[in-house]
Amino acid sequence: MSLPNRWQEFRSSLPAFFRSRRPADFSHLIQGPRAGAIVLVGTRKDGFIPGKLTASLFLPIFARACAQRGFQVMAFPDPADFLSREDIPQPVTIVLVYSEVRILRAGLDPTFQKVLERARRLGAGVVHPPELGLTIADKLATRDQLIPAGIRMPELVTENGPMVPVFSNEVVGSNRPVQLHGSDRLDPSRYNTRYIDTVHHYQGRAYHVSLRAMAVGPTCVAVYLRARAASEKNPSVHNKNTPVDRELLNHLHGQIVAPRRGEIHSICERIGSRLGPGFYAHDIVPERESGLLYVCETGFKFDDHAWRNRMAPLRGSLACDDGSPSVEVVRSAEAFLAALPLPSPPKTPR
Ligand SMILES: Nc1ncnc2c1ncn2[C@@H]1O[C@H](COP(=O)(O)OP(=O)(O)O)[C@@H](O)[C@H]1O
Ligand SMILES: [Mg+2]
Repeated sequence: MSLPNRWQEFRSSLPAFFRSRRPADFSHLIQGPRAGAIVLVGTRKDGFIPGKLTASLFLPIFARACAQRGFQVMAFPDPADFLSREDIPQPVTIVLVYSEVRILRAGLDPTFQKVLERARRLGAGVVHPPELGLTIADKLATRDQLIPAGIRMPELVTENGPMVPVFSNEVVGSNRPVQLHGSDRLDPSRYNTRYIDTVHHYQGRAYHVSLRAMAVGPTCVAVYLRARAASEKNPSVHNKNTPVDRELLNHLHGQIVAPRRGEIHSICERIGSRLGPGFYAHDIVPERESGLLYVCETGFKFDDHAWRNRMAPLRGSLACDDGSPSVEVVRSAEAFLAALPLPSPPKTPR
């Protein structure tokens, strides 16, 4: 990994306290007539969270792509700076940047409420409203939204059903320890779904596989492959488990992702149409035997910096990644502008 990448990785791993919380205004990038403003606002506790948005990588590219369409991007990691800023241009869309799991656990802090009140006074469209965050932070509430939208998810397992292998996770949380067991020993306080066997083989080795579709509103902007050696005896697959192995990842991409591109795009389309504009990561498992795709969960995510960083040594040689983070961010900006929520007329005072 190059030195700037290492520095970037180190910086984005620092607690919020050490990271820059200065506001950024990218209006100088606009040359022609102005179409409106896009304002990103963080939370008092976290600022812009690295797992959600890697500000130093995402913002400049996003802002440049928006500026080319006449949209001025402003970013306020600290919401107090947004609240004290007087000249917010109109029409404006406000994009809230926060951890949905944290607001479900800790509630909305008073500053967040003030941001929402100001957004209302400005007549702003609000992206990632708290009601949406509270829904997607909870795996059961997510189902209630996505199943009626025609999304296939691993079936819920309840006490009265037939005996099946169960994948048991926490209802709220991310990357928590999971359990695998039979449906005769359910803990009803957990999120219990049918275990989907995603084991695929490559060169005599077995791997659990999981796909991550990055989507902006209804548009799929990237599909990352994640895998975990079955020898680790844990079917929960995340970035940190994924082998940095070009041949393996390209093989799985050819086997699983390439033939299902249309289907993955259609999943993103349905979820985005149901949940509305936003920056999402949808976790999807491919069942080995049936070839069917099941959506496990969705979460807010502007960029998957952790995956890109991990795969940096393979940059340019992976079928599931074009090698340049800026291509993906530009795609995200274009998809975002295409699905921009319409602002309503401002109410005075601002
Ligand atoms: N029903 C299931 N059967 C098999 N594997 C699953 C199932 N649900 C989730 N997984 C695996 O576990 C991982 C984590 O589950 P997920 O729902 O994304 O929760 P979180 O990321 O919050 O821990 C997924 O990426 C996938 O690899
Ligand atoms: Mg997940």
